[in-house]
Amino acid sequence: MPFELELPSKSFVVTGGNRGIGYAISRAIAQAGARVAVLYRSSADAPAVARALQDEFGVMVRAYQVDVADSARLEVVYNQVVRELGPIGGLVAAAGIAVSKPAVNMTRDDFLRIFQTNTWGPYNSAACLMRLWIRHNYHDGRIVIVSSIGGRRVSRGTSVSFYQASKAAASMLGRSLAQEWARYARINVLDPGYIATDMTSSMTADERRRVESTALLNRFGTPDEVANLALFLLSNQASYCVGTSYVCDGGIVLQ
Ligand SMILES: NC(=O)c1ccc[n+]([C@@H]2O[C@H](COP(=O)([O-])OP(=O)(O)OC[C@H]3O[C@@H](n4cnc5c(N)ncnc54)[C@H](OP(=O)(O)O)[C@@H]3O)[C@@H](O)[C@H]2O)c1
Repeated sequence: MPFELELPSKSFVVTGGNRGIGYAISRAIAQAGARVAVLYRSSADAPAVARALQDEFGVMVRAYQVDVADSARLEVVYNQVVRELGPIGGLVAAAGIAVSKPAVNMTRDDFLRIFQTNTWGPYNSAACLMRLWIRHNYHDGRIVIVSSIGGRRVSRGTSVSFYQASKAAASMLGRSLAQEWARYARINVLDPGYIATDMTSSMTADERRRVESTALLNRFGTPDEVANLALFLLSNQASYCVGTSYVCDGGIVLQ
């Protein structure tokens, strides 16, 4: 019999699910037959992206506009998801921003903007859902926090110190929440390496070559390659996986 991943018959929320890595994860979930709530911040085409997935795979996929830093709006959105798509079985917190700026010029506003999205955002997305699960006495949740290998190691020649710090914090947060909420959910962290998305599209040819030479596979990864691991972590087959960070980086970190 072929090996197949099964998802709980619930709906799944993907923050940043309309573009890049998050989109590939939304697509993988829809392809696996589960309903998907695609959360986005401002891309006007997100509802059309969701409709296209719905048409392609014949499962309900809806887009919801929300800033992941906004708790009140997130709560409204989760309640709407439950009404429209049914109870939520899992979350992938993929929304994130990268800001490149010399550290000597960084401001408090830069700090707040980056940490609000990359660190508070995953916490907020997870905590709003956890409150729902506790209220409904649901004990089989799945949460994947998309962090980065940038939270583990410093990339030479870059100016992304707040990004890297925000990801290091998000990774530790994910593992801490896994411990505190283990009765309700299996929470894991996913650390992509360099992936071909809008986030990395402004890198120069030289920067790309330098990055590629640091990976055993000598190339960028694709969003689908990260989505495969996310789908596994959401699935029933990952029943003994909790509180760990998983790297998908073509062999940069080597640990
Ligand atoms: N690409 C890489 O090489 C790489 C490597 C390691 C880790 N990661 C991490 O993987 C995640 C996805 O990265 P990506 O490359 O796919 O990025 P991307 O293509 O730039 O997409 C970012 C996504 O996040 C959403 N978003 C940003 N801020 C938000 C907010 N405040 N509230 C709600 N949604 C928000 C965007 O929504 P809109 O479209 O509406 O703006 C978009 O869907 C990020 O957390 C990133 O740090 C990426």
